[in-house]
Amino acid sequence: MDEANAADVAGVPASTLNLIDLSSSDIRRSVSLLKQACLDSGFFYVINHGVSQELMEEVFVQSRRFFGLPLSEKMKLLRNEKHRGYTPLFDQVLDPANQINGDYKEGYYIGVEVPEDDPRAQKPHFGPNLWPSEDILPRWRQAMEKFHCQALNVAKVVTRIIALALDLEAGFFEKPEIFGEPIATLRLLHYEGLVSDPFKGIYGAGAHSDFGFITLLATDDVPGLQICKNKDAKPLKWEYVQPMRGPFIVNLGDMLERWSNCIFRSTLHRVIGNGQERYSIASFLEPNHDCLIECLPTCMSKENPPKFPPVQCQTYLSQRLDDTHADLNVYRREGA
Ligand code: OGA
Ligand code: NI
Repeated sequence: MDEANAADVAGVPASTLNLIDLSSSDIRRSVSLLKQACLDSGFFYVINHGVSQELMEEVFVQSRRFFGLPLSEKMKLLRNEKHRGYTPLFDQVLDPANQINGDYKEGYYIGVEVPEDDPRAQKPHFGPNLWPSEDILPRWRQAMEKFHCQALNVAKVVTRIIALALDLEAGFFEKPEIFGEPIATLRLLHYEGLVSDPFKGIYGAGAHSDFGFITLLATDDVPGLQICKNKDAKPLKWEYVQPMRGPFIVNLGDMLERWSNCIFRSTLHRVIGNGQERYSIASFLEPNHDCLIECLPTCMSKENPPKFPPVQCQTYLSQRLDDTHADLNVYRREGA
């Protein structure tokens, strides 16, 4: 166990994050606040984003209903090869060097709904979703689909401000070959009321940075999320992100870090359980499958040449998911 990482859980300070008001007409101010946030912490809140409080509450109610089902029911919807469906406790290990069992969380992946007979369903990450039956969870699918779609629209608005902050034209990322057909994933998360113990390698979610472009996170009001502004510092310094019902917490992922040649860094974060049950909902935004993530023209110079080789979005994402999730054969063996 990394002693430095285990230190200082009590007494962790709260972070102050910038608020970006998506209804503001002062775009220059929004760009400046976002840029400052991206250079400082890689985390910010977005407010007045257009998703109603009612819908936010509804998806949390529906998420609680799902996770409240007996394990045997949830296991009927176990994650498949397309990364859709239920992920039980310990299915993901985000920080293997510092964790014993894996993440003390359960989750549910919902992706872009593509019918089985659609040629696009041949691609990784695309295909039909797994849905709990209407008899067991009425209106569940409708609520999730509505929220998934609206969160994606909010994320697209944020990409416009990010583009401006990187000295690109506002619509740069909205080109058909970039976010024309994005891999957009909703993930419901449930942390049981366990107290994390970094000394023993017990975390709600191990330290990680997200894999994609940006993540929008909605949380209940139980604290747990911690961020580390400088992932190169030793020892790592952690700060709490204040939970807020209503705003989305937005953070930058590794694809954007690669794209921007580390001008915008993805931020290390983790979830520390304090004994209270906690629910959160992450919306991950990744570009089209074959979009090439390569250094942006405005992010390189003679003094600052590209730091990463170009990589295809789908290849990168599959690799990161496979690296952190259990092999599905584990469950087949258990079930046999
Ligand atoms: C994630 C994540 C944080 C949270 O899903 O990548 O960091 O608060 N979630 O659940
Ligand atoms: Ni994360």
